[in-house]
Amino acid sequence: MASFDVIVIGAGPGGYVCAIRCAQLGLKVACVEGRETLGGTCLNIGCIPSKALLNATHHLHEAEHNFAKMGLKGKSPSVDWPQMQAYKQDVVDGNTKGIEFLFKKNKVTWLKGWGSIPEAGKVKVGDEVHEAKSIVIATGSEPASLPGVEVDEQTVVTSTGALSLGKIPKSLVVIGAGVIGLEMGSVYARLGTKVTVVEYLDAITPGMDAEVAKAFQKMLVKQGFEFIMGAAVQKVDVAKGKATVTYKLRKDDSEATLEADTVLLATGRKPYTAGLGLEALGVEMLPRGMVKIDDHFQTNVKGIYAIGDAVPGPMLAHKAEDEGMAAAEVLAGKHGHVNYAVIPGVIYTSPEVASVGQTEEQLKEAGRAYKVGKFPFMGNARAKAVFMGEGFVKILADKDTDRVLGCHIIGPAAGDLIHEICVAMEFGASAQDVALTCHAHPTFSEAVREAALACGDGAIHA
Ligand code: NAI
Repeated sequence: MASFDVIVIGAGPGGYVCAIRCAQLGLKVACVEGRETLGGTCLNIGCIPSKALLNATHHLHEAEHNFAKMGLKGKSPSVDWPQMQAYKQDVVDGNTKGIEFLFKKNKVTWLKGWGSIPEAGKVKVGDEVHEAKSIVIATGSEPASLPGVEVDEQTVVTSTGALSLGKIPKSLVVIGAGVIGLEMGSVYARLGTKVTVVEYLDAITPGMDAEVAKAFQKMLVKQGFEFIMGAAVQKVDVAKGKATVTYKLRKDDSEATLEADTVLLATGRKPYTAGLGLEALGVEMLPRGMVKIDDHFQTNVKGIYAIGDAVPGPMLAHKAEDEGMAAAEVLAGKHGHVNYAVIPGVIYTSPEVASVGQTEEQLKEAGRAYKVGKFPFMGNARAKAVFMGEGFVKILADKDTDRVLGCHIIGPAAGDLIHEICVAMEFGASAQDVALTCHAHPTFSEAVREAALACGDGAIHA
């Protein structure tokens, strides 16, 4: 038995960041992880491998659609799927080994195995029980199931199977027009797969600013996506390696079917907290296996904390990382804090979609007086030069004070551009503060400045 100040259960972005920060703050820390590699869902079967496939297929798309226009003639590359998979695995390995290196560098002990909490102050890993003054649950999430849909990770897959299909399917039905469905759908659409998305609601990407969601859907349709909206999937039948998806249209209750080589179930994720022994400990839970915590990430059982996808809030790696750092600071006697009002969200399609703060719909509902500054990438010289003139930047600011309340971007490098506005919002900046900041020319970021200018006396290039 070993004794620690803190034992973190789970080495995903929440857990590993928490463990490293605890160590940096002088605490003796261990991190329990049952996978062969560190990094959790994000590094192993989520954000990182999907970005590798998105990158590879983006280049394919560029070669097929834009090279000749730039005078780069010749045959487009052909796809070597096993090599693309090997590249993806290399990217994953490089990142997971990087965390192992960081653990060694920071003297974080990796307790290999699956952890549970037999009693407060104790963590069981395999046959060994370790002591800890504080325990942090950072066990993440897993794909939510859907009645009538049995996942075999071959024909009917979650994001995990979708990243490692044996071959490129001719047809793919995606259940759910959320982030996973649209990112993985993009990968396969670019590889020539016929992608059909079946979505329960009338708009894609629930919670996104409606104007952006609408523009996004249009662009995806142009890229070959087909959408069946307002349709609830009832069941998926698999016979001889082919799937039949049955869905019901909400408007008239009529049923229809779709055939596909592969079906991707992407209807959300749920906390992965079963098996930790939380019920026996009396840890207060919320629906769907979510752990209830207070403002300091502590559960109702003293010394047991929880962060990341296991607790309420957006299921995003960077939200988990922020909570991991803040929880570590709390455990070290400091004042850890997460500003939940400024957590960006990014979808890594092409173009990228990014947002932070309030949507127009939220502001309307709250009855807040606001103004909109919008700028199209068509007016941005750099975007036009790289065939990325579609999309726009939209800044929402308080009508009276000009304070930035939200920003929504669909266009090139949106996922990077959004952070200028995140910083502005952290500083309580006005749209004018952004507009008066010199932005290098020619950069995509000028579109953000122009949107800020449009909140005042007007954009220059629109
Ligand atoms: P999601 O919650 O983003 O979207 C699920 C969609 O499925 C919703 O639009 C919902 O209306 C629809 N749906 C639910 N039941 C349905 C049914 N029976 N028939 C048809 N449609 C149905 O969930 P998703 O895409 O699975 O992502 C899970 C989590 O992972 C999210 O919290 C997401 O933010 C996160 N994630 C984030 C990424 C990023 O930040 N780039 C990348 C991948 C995942």
